[in-house]
Amino acid sequence: MKIAVLTGGGDAQGLNAVIQGILWKAKKEGYDVYGIQRGYKGLIEADFKPIKLEDFEEIFKVGGTILKTSRTNPYKSKEGVKKALTTIKNNFDALIAIGGDDTLGAANRLSKDGVPVIGVPKTIDNDLDNTDFTIGFQTAAAIAAEAVQNLHTTARSHERVVVCEIMGRHAGWITIYAGLAGGAHVILLPEKTFDVESVCQVIKKRYDAGKNYAIIACSEGAKPKQKDLVTATAEKDEFGHIRLGGIGTILADEIQKRMGITTRSVVLGHLQRCGSPNTFDRVFGLRLGVNAVKLVKEKKYGYGLSLKGLNIVPVKLDDLVDKLKLVDEELLELTDIFSG
Ligand code: F6P
Repeated sequence: MKIAVLTGGGDAQGLNAVIQGILWKAKKEGYDVYGIQRGYKGLIEADFKPIKLEDFEEIFKVGGTILKTSRTNPYKSKEGVKKALTTIKNNFDALIAIGGDDTLGAANRLSKDGVPVIGVPKTIDNDLDNTDFTIGFQTAAAIAAEAVQNLHTTARSHERVVVCEIMGRHAGWITIYAGLAGGAHVILLPEKTFDVESVCQVIKKRYDAGKNYAIIACSEGAKPKQKDLVTATAEKDEFGHIRLGGIGTILADEIQKRMGITTRSVVLGHLQRCGSPNTFDRVFGLRLGVNAVKLVKEKKYGYGLSLKGLNIVPVKLDDLVDKLKLVDEELLELTDIFSG
């Protein structure tokens, strides 16, 4: 059995733990594992090499991906998909694709085109449907929460407002976790349009009460009611997603303009995707890797893995990529309850 593995989309802590899990289980089963380089780019270009457990024994602790990654979309051209299908047909018995909605969406299309494929859910954004968590989210949320918490000391000392911009284009999972765990006074998510005036009111109340500082946890995809405040650049990736970024600075400027209070913005950016996976993501990654090989052994192709409660279970790729999983009502309500 020859298994190809690829990682696609933005990197995330825990990807190497998944690969390590695959290598352990594959060795036990006597399967050969091949690393496709740079996601679907490597599949199109037939760029792959064998990977062995002996050469990668300690990778589960290390962030990033030993396979490199890209946002290449094999379905962008007929030529691309033809080459990708040929690489698989000529060299492998199965493909394990580790990625978010774009990577697993393409994996699902490959599956319908006859490729024996298994999907592993990865994204720090945690926005894949039908799984409680995706690999990388827990570590990213912990990094962002620590940053939000730490910003209190400088904001308090300078009696300032600090807006902390957090990753999450369409879903505010990292922001809600970081905002709650880090004690933000205002939490702004893509799921709920916000009013700049209401944000100013919360800040005013804090200053009126003598608490002369405020921390705002703001998702990069948060949208103000005031539509003239632009939040997207014209830049798009291969899957057609706009590149976001900038709402934190825009909001900080607006608060300072309206309230006359010194306001700073901090963009956490890729720091949220860096460094070692935490304990949860190491164990989760190893389990995902082992379970992915189990699905290969069972020939349960066209399926991906999902965390449901404490268990890792197979779900159809269709159900993982059908729609984005947004922050639910119960958590959304907390942004009001803990505001101020
Ligand atoms: O999809 C994960 C993610 O980190 C998003 O939260 C963010 O908007 C995007 O990737 C950033 O992409 P890039 O690494 O291409 O700048």
